Amino acid sequence: MQGLMRHLLLAAGLAVGLAVPWATAQAQAAAAPAAAASAALPRPDDTEARREQVQPGNNAPLWRAVRRSGEQAGISTLPGAEQGVLIQRFVQLPGSRAVTAGEAWRELRNRWLLPYGGALLLIVAGAIALFYWRRGPLGTEVPEGGRPIERFTPFERSAHWANAIAFVVLAVSGLVMAFGKFLLLPVLGGQLFGWLSYALKTAHNFVGPLFVVSLAIVFVTFVRDNLPGRGDWQWLRRGGGLFGGHEAPSHRFNAGEKLVFWGGVLALGVVVIGSGLVLDRLIPGWGVTRGQMQVASVVHSVATGLMMAMFMGHIYIGSIGMKGAYRAMRQGWVDENWARAHHPWWYEDIAAGKIPAQRSAAAPALAAPPNTGLGGPSARA
Ligand code: HEM
Repeated sequence: MQGLMRHLLLAAGLAVGLAVPWATAQAQAAAAPAAAASAALPRPDDTEARREQVQPGNNAPLWRAVRRSGEQAGISTLPGAEQGVLIQRFVQLPGSRAVTAGEAWRELRNRWLLPYGGALLLIVAGAIALFYWRRGPLGTEVPEGGRPIERFTPFERSAHWANAIAFVVLAVSGLVMAFGKFLLLPVLGGQLFGWLSYALKTAHNFVGPLFVVSLAIVFVTFVRDNLPGRGDWQWLRRGGGLFGGHEAPSHRFNAGEKLVFWGGVLALGVVVIGSGLVLDRLIPGWGVTRGQMQVASVVHSVATGLMMAMFMGHIYIGSIGMKGAYRAMRQGWVDENWARAHHPWWYEDIAAGKIPAQRSAAAPALAAPPNTGLGGPSARA
């Protein structure tokens, strides 16, 4: 047995002894073409002469010298504020290497803004889908059949929808500009994707300034009823009854809507518009250097990502997430039971005659039930 083991060990040792040099030779032979190929590649420390041999026309050392500010003098025809500055100076942005500003912006955008911005929107969409699946539309228990109350006048509705349509066009075209290359180009191919993204980019640049006007009109139209008031804090503490429990009472708009108004319409709206107008080069003296454009683009990406995430919730509640909500902004009227259930303090003021149940000349869109004492068209002062 011992003899056999010895012979086996000997044979194994022999085999290994033979295999290792063979394998090394194989590996070297396999690496040779790569080594030969890489030997043919330009190296950072290459001289211009060697580079002309291995990669004619690629004069990276020249550009490195240009970049190392002033080592290589030259003429640049760049106009205006960046006269003579061909390559931006080195910077280090959060999440990027110490590289030229243009490269740092590209790294920040591709490594952080797009992946995390995209993830945020997917997470919010997923959370809304889960909520709808678990809770379904809110307010289904509220009966219909009460008198109609005018919640939004024709002017308020057209201001809202003009703004909503502009926002959706900007959101969709913006998402295609950001993610189209990764998600649509492989499917549509270069030609079709080129046309689509060009058309959407143009739409984005033209609808942007319209959104400035429509958002300002929406702000002025709804600001008075969004001022902080009675019950807002209780409403927020109860999460508006969204996650169980009763909805806390509110006046015309609840604290959740007020948060979207001040946080989304005003705060994020101003940042999105400001950075957008810089990118559109519509603010004199701004957006004239690449640096300003890079900062504006980062600010615009972050603010639009947050605004889209916030309005996904608003659009959900305002479309399928709450019974009667969409009709309120579509037709202008709500059933008095709806008003009493969701905005009781607003309803009380209407019942007390402090606020007219109808503010415009528009005919009620809801069938008026008999003798509830609130009055339809006749209630107008
Ligand atoms: C397709 C998109 C949208 C839909 C379906 C939608 C739906 C609605 C609905 C149903 C209401 C009435 C809520 C209530 O009765 O209290 C409403 C109110 C409102 N919406 Fe929208 N909306 C959309 C987009 C937007 C956008 C983009 C903005 C602003 C950037 C916006 C700003 C407002 C404001 C200010 C109000 C009044 C309530 C308040 O001031 O809090 N909406 N929306």
